Amino acid sequence: MTSETTGNASAPDDLTTGLTRRRALCGLVVALAAPGVLAACSSGGEGAAPPPAPPGGTPVSQIPVGGGTLVEGPNGPVLLVQPSAGVVKAFSAVCPHQGVTVDPPVNGTITCPGHGSEFDGASGALKLGPAQTGLTPISTRVVNGAVQFA
Ligand code: FES
Repeated sequence: MTSETTGNASAPDDLTTGLTRRRALCGLVVALAAPGVLAACSSGGEGAAPPPAPPGGTPVSQIPVGGGTLVEGPNGPVLLVQPSAGVVKAFSAVCPHQGVTVDPPVNGTITCPGHGSEFDGASGALKLGPAQTGLTPISTRVVNGAVQFA
């Protein structure tokens, strides 16, 4: 059996971002073949592109009230939320901390799976760091019941 090191005391200086650290840790996990932990290393939160918005826009009816849905916008992933029936807002889904794609809101909070930053599900405002700012609003309009990018 070989010995393994933990932590990043011997990590090269270029391992300064969370994403890089996360990938390195996931690589270590793969090397150790720890079942059950691999799911946490999936690309769902940090690279899986959401589906493109349908032609004509995303139907408001497909955005859960109190929740949201991710779509690919003209400049990257966008989180469409419907905090109350008929009220739709859009934010860049790119976390302002280190760029991980945030998750749709649960119980009024948008969470980043990268390092746990939290944002208000209705306004995108920062609730909890390490991010230093809220999510960037995206301009949209509703046409024939569908959300389109303005
Ligand atoms: S990328 Fe670090 S909290 Fe989102």
